[in-house]
Amino acid sequence: MALPEPSESATALVTGASAGIGEAIARELASRGHGVTLVARREERLRMLAGELSERHGVRAEAIAADLGDAAAREQLAERIGGLGLEVEILVNNAGFGGSASLADSDRERLVAMLRVNCEALLDLQARYLPAMVDRGRGAVINVASTAAFQPIPGTATYAATKAFVLSLSEAVHQELKGTGVTLTAVCPGPVKTEFTRAAGIEQASEQLPDVFWMGSEAVAKAAVDGAENGKRVIVPGLLNRAGALTGQHTPRMLALPIVKRIWRQAL
Ligand SMILES: NC(=O)c1ccc[n+]([C@@H]2O[C@H](COP(=O)([O-])OP(=O)(O)OC[C@H]3O[C@@H](n4cnc5c(N)ncnc54)[C@H](OP(=O)(O)O)[C@@H]3O)[C@@H](O)[C@H]2O)c1
Repeated sequence: MALPEPSESATALVTGASAGIGEAIARELASRGHGVTLVARREERLRMLAGELSERHGVRAEAIAADLGDAAAREQLAERIGGLGLEVEILVNNAGFGGSASLADSDRERLVAMLRVNCEALLDLQARYLPAMVDRGRGAVINVASTAAFQPIPGTATYAATKAFVLSLSEAVHQELKGTGVTLTAVCPGPVKTEFTRAAGIEQASEQLPDVFWMGSEAVAKAAVDGAENGKRVIVPGLLNRAGALTGQHTPRMLALPIVKRIWRQAL
């Protein structure tokens, strides 16, 4: 079994737990008996969830507000966790956001902020907590990437590039960790009904996407935690998404780029 046994001093740190997939993963882990440390900017939501999970599953749960794009806030987060006497034995790097516009039409600061949250924070937390997991000989990391990781996407170039970073990093580190007792699983969801589309400014356009393409965050969370439990390298939840991932990976860029650009432009 790849997930460490729940214990008093261990926690599952879940970023982006105030909504969507992160909230669902926190629920899934708590239902399996793991104490959870919930992180995002919206503290009230985290507090409500922490209270609910403690009551329902009898697990320890705390809410810590942090803007993960801010290096000083990440430092304070680590101090808070250390101060609580907790060891991060499960790390779920889920916080992230996207956007939709050509690079020339995008807000520069927003793109840089996206890189900070989607990539820098994910790498920082991983580099912070992995060494102790390896020393203990147990631990699990779940990095939430996306099917956007499998090919460049004109129209959301930066978002797709951040997810390609997450996937590439995760696959390589998964291999580095072989034999250590620690696992790393990248999860690549396709479209999931969450607040993501609103945060990305594509809420109205995404309503036109047929139901068959959407998955619920609970199903994605279960696939993610089951994947980590089994020490999987990459999980792509849903048959259609697996087919899309294969196509994205194996179609020559010369053919794929104009098609992907047209699909993205038509969809949004
Ligand atoms: N929904 C999809 O279709 C989809 C598909 C593939 C991959 N994903 C990925 O799945 C992950 C979760 O997305 P979601 O769909 O669950 O979206 P969501 O409902 O918008 O949730 C995003 C979470 O990230 C947190 N977050 C964003 N910026 C943050 C910051 N600066 N500091 C701390 N927390 C921050 C948000 O919390 P606060 O706002 O409270 O800070 C929220 O909890 C993301 O990495 C996303 O790229 C989503």
